[in-house]
Amino acid sequence: MLNLVLFGPPGAGKGTQAIYLKKKYRLIHLSTGDLLRTQIAAKTELGIQAKLFIDKGELVPDELVIGMIKVKLNQCANIKGFIFDGFPRTEEQAKALDVLLNENNTPFSGMLALEVEKQELVDRLLERGQTSGRSDDADVSIIENRIKTYHVKTAPVMDFYAKQKKKYSINGMGGIEDIAQRLNEVVANF
Ligand code: C5P
Ligand code: MG
Repeated sequence: MLNLVLFGPPGAGKGTQAIYLKKKYRLIHLSTGDLLRTQIAAKTELGIQAKLFIDKGELVPDELVIGMIKVKLNQCANIKGFIFDGFPRTEEQAKALDVLLNENNTPFSGMLALEVEKQELVDRLLERGQTSGRSDDADVSIIENRIKTYHVKTAPVMDFYAKQKKKYSINGMGGIEDIAQRLNEVVANF
């Protein structure tokens, strides 16, 4: 099994690169952001709760996000592995992921951390906002808050995996195909 965490700030290209990795290694792509947006569209209790945080560029509480991932992992038997995109976003979520993978007797392969300069992140998100219909992509102050939230709450997750020697930094600047190639050079060795 191949279980990958695709990591990076908002706009780093996690979703874009997940599509390549998913195809190549036949993995299940679990994007917590997409899952939450599906819940919001369906106006479920979880979606209503999540929207309060997402609209401000804040993080949805750990117990809600972890509960959602847990349900998904239990639904998927006999598969080649997962790409976690946008999860874990806190150290608490990283610890929960370790427990869940252990319970499912499946190994953690590695964290792929996409590194992108701040101005490039803002530019990419604003561009995406023109077509994504995501209100959190359309407003510079919400984008700034998402990037700030990333630095305060999410970036420490890198240390968590670095200590386990499971963190791999990838240059996330440049062309999509070039970045896919860089990721592949790492994943091919897992
Ligand atoms: O990953 P993505 O950028 O699609 O996430 C969009 C929003 O969903 C985040 O800005 C955050 O508000 C929320 N989210 C979260 N916790 C996660 C994943 C997403 O709070 N693990
Ligand atoms: Mg995404």
